[in-house]
Amino acid sequence: MQRAVRFLVLLLVGLALLAVVGYVVLARTTRAWFEHDLALRSQLAVSSARQSLESNWSSGRKQLSGALADITRDERIMAAAACTPQGELLAATDSYPAEFSCRSVLERMRHEAATGAETWSMSPELPSGRVNLSVTMLGPPAAPLGAVVLVHDLSYLSRREVATRNFLVVAFFVLSLAASVITLVAARIAWRGWTLELGRALTGEATTEFQPLVRNVRELVERLASEREQEVRGGRWSPARLRSILTQYLNGERVLLLANRAPYIHERTDGGVEVLHPASGLVSALEPVMRACSGVWVAHGSGSADRQTVDAHDHIRVPPGEESYSLRRVWLSEEEENGYYYGFSNEGLWPLCHVAHARPVFRAADYEIYARVNQRFADAICDEVDSDDPIVLVQDYHFALAPRMIRERLPRATIIAFWHIPWPNSERFGICPWREELISGLLGASIVGFHIQQHCNNFIDGVDAFMESRIDRETHAVVQGSRRTLVRPYPISIEWPVHWLEHVPPVDEARSSVRRELGLAQDTLLGVGIDRLDYTKGIEERLAAVDELLMRYREFRGKFTFVQLAAPSRTKIPRYRELNERVQAVASEIDRKWSSDGYRPIVLLREHHEPTSVFRYFRAADLCYVSSLHDGMNLVAKEFVAARDDEQGVLVLSQFTGASRDLTEALIVNPYDLRQASDALAAALRMPKDEQRERMRSMRRLVSEFNVYRWAGRMLVDAAELRRKERLTGRLGTSGIFGRSARA
Ligand code: G6P
Repeated sequence: MQRAVRFLVLLLVGLALLAVVGYVVLARTTRAWFEHDLALRSQLAVSSARQSLESNWSSGRKQLSGALADITRDERIMAAAACTPQGELLAATDSYPAEFSCRSVLERMRHEAATGAETWSMSPELPSGRVNLSVTMLGPPAAPLGAVVLVHDLSYLSRREVATRNFLVVAFFVLSLAASVITLVAARIAWRGWTLELGRALTGEATTEFQPLVRNVRELVERLASEREQEVRGGRWSPARLRSILTQYLNGERVLLLANRAPYIHERTDGGVEVLHPASGLVSALEPVMRACSGVWVAHGSGSADRQTVDAHDHIRVPPGEESYSLRRVWLSEEEENGYYYGFSNEGLWPLCHVAHARPVFRAADYEIYARVNQRFADAICDEVDSDDPIVLVQDYHFALAPRMIRERLPRATIIAFWHIPWPNSERFGICPWREELISGLLGASIVGFHIQQHCNNFIDGVDAFMESRIDRETHAVVQGSRRTLVRPYPISIEWPVHWLEHVPPVDEARSSVRRELGLAQDTLLGVGIDRLDYTKGIEERLAAVDELLMRYREFRGKFTFVQLAAPSRTKIPRYRELNERVQAVASEIDRKWSSDGYRPIVLLREHHEPTSVFRYFRAADLCYVSSLHDGMNLVAKEFVAARDDEQGVLVLSQFTGASRDLTEALIVNPYDLRQASDALAAALRMPKDEQRERMRSMRRLVSEFNVYRWAGRMLVDAAELRRKERLTGRLGTSGIFGRSARA
C-alpha cells in the first residue's frame, strides 16, 4: 500500500511538472498567435479605410478624425491617430493615450522595424493594462503621406490566458489522476497474475516462462537447506564428520590423493632410519584429512631411506603407529626431479604465480619432463583405483596436467584439483609458453579450487582469454562440450585441535625452556617467525622491520629478541641459495648493530624443525610475525593461533596472505612498509593482556570452526553433488528425453 501511495505521489509530481512546462510553452505560443492576428487585423482595418484616409489626409483635422473614428468602431481597437512622417499629430480619436506621441512612436519604429517597412507593431504596458500599438504607413514608400497608429486593447488576451491556464490545470489534474489510477490497476492486475503464475510454477503446476527462475530458486533452497541441515546435524567439523560425509554422500569411497610432497619422509641417519615431517603447508593441511578419510596418498619418494621402507608395490602404511592410510611412493630419476620439481615447478610456476619479483625461468626441456612426470603420477593414481568412478584429489602446481590425464583413463572419476598457491592475473599468466596446456590440464578436473575468490576470478579470466570454452559466471563453471568444471574458493585451514599439541609443553614451560635454550633472560620479549627459506615469505623484510623497531623504539633495545626458524628449501635453485646467504647477512648486520652484553636481537636457526618444536616456539612467543610478500593462504598464521590456548600472543600478519582475509583480528601490515610493520611490532609488544585475549579468542573461534575438515568436507559435498547431477544427466541422456544438448 505504502509503495502504491509513493508511486501515486511521484506520478502526480511528475505530471504537475509536465503541466507547468506545458502551460508556459502554450501561453507563449498562443500569445504570439494572437499578436500576429492583431497585426493582420490592423492592416485590414487600415486598408479598408485607406481610401478615405488618404483622401481626407489634407482636408483638415475634422474629416481625418471622422475617418479615424470609423476605424475605432471595431470593439478591439481602442484608439487611432494620424501622424505626419515628421512625427506631428494630425488628428486622433479622444481615447488616444497621450503616452504614445507621434514622434516617439515613429522614432521607435525607425529604430526597430526593417528599413522601408510599411507596418510595425509593439505591445507596451500601460497603467490600465497591456495594449498593442500598430503603425501603418500611407502613401508611396518614397514619399509617404504619413502614418496611422492604431491602439488595440489586449486585456481580453490576459483574460484568455487565465482561462487557458485554468483549463489546463484542471485537465492535467484530471488526466494525471486517471493515468495514475489506470497504471496502478494495471500493475496490480499484472502483479497478481505474475504472483499466481509464480506460485503455480513453484508448486510445479504449470510450465511457464518462470521455469528457469524456479529451477534456480529450487536449487538454491535445496542447497541452503542441505547445508543448514548438515551444520545443525553435524555440529563442529571433525574427522568423524568428514568420514560421515564420505559414507553419506560418496558411498564410503576411498580417497586418492596426489601431492608431490609426502607427509612422511624416511631419512638415513647415523642413528638409523628417521621419519621426518616436512615443512609444507599442504602437508599440514592434508595429512589430517587423509587420516580421517583413509585411502592412498601418492607422492614423490624423496627420502634417502624411502625405498627401504616400502613394500613390493611401493606402499607403506602411515602414520607410523596409527596406520590409517597408505602412502604410495613414486620414484623419480635425478633428471626427472631436476626438470619437473626444481625446473618447471619451482623455477617456472612458483615465481610465475607469486608476486614476489622473481623472474620465472621457462625451459622447454623442463616442461617436457614436467608433462612426462605428470603422466607417471597420473598412471600411479590409476593403478590405485578400485572402481571406475573414484574420488581423486590432485594437489598443487606440481600437477597441473594430471587432472586431464587421469580423466582420459577414468572418464567417470570425480577429480578435485586444488591450487595451493595464488593464481596470477591473465596478463601475468599469459607469459607462460604453456599457458593453454596448463589450463586445459586443470579443466580435466570436476572442481578446481583456490583459497580465495580473487584467484578463482583470475583463473576464469585466464580461461576466457586463452581457451575455447563457455564460462557460466552464474554457477562459476567452465563448460567444454558436455563437461563442466566448477571453479570455487575453498579457504584451507588446519586440523582442530592440532594433534601435535598433545606432545608440546604448556605455555609457561615452553616460554621458560625456549628462553633458557637460546640463552635469553627470562623476561625477554620474544618474537617468532617460522618458514621455509623462501623468497616469497618476506624474511629479509621481516628482519628489516625488527631493525626499524629497535631504531625507532628505544625501549625495546636489549629487551626484544626475534627468533627466525628457517627450514632450508629447494637449495638446488640458485635463487634460494642466494636468499639463504642474504638472510644470514641481514641477520648478522642487525646483530652487529644492536647486540650488547649477551643481548642478541636476532636468532636465526637455519635448520629443519619438527612440528612439536615449531609449536613450542609458538607457545614461547609474545608475537608471531608472518610477513609473506604473497601467499595463497599461509597456515603458519593459523598454527600460531591454534598453539595459543592461553589466549595470549599477538599475530602480525601480511596483508598479502590469504589468511589475512580470515584472521582480521591480527595486526595486518604491508611487509614492504617498514615503518608500519615496526609500529605494528611495537603495538603488539605493548598490547594489554585483555586486548590480546579478545583478539586471540576471536581468531581461535574462527579457526576451530573453519578447520581443515570443513575445507575438505565442503569440497567433497560439492563433488558429490556434481556426481549426482552427472549421473542423473547421464541416465536421462540415454532415455532420449533430455539429451545432453538440452543442458549445454
Ligand atoms: C608450498 C607448496 C606446497 C609445498 C610446500 C613446501 O606450500 O604449496 O606444495 O609442499 O610449499 O615446498 P616443497 O617444495 O618443499 O614441497
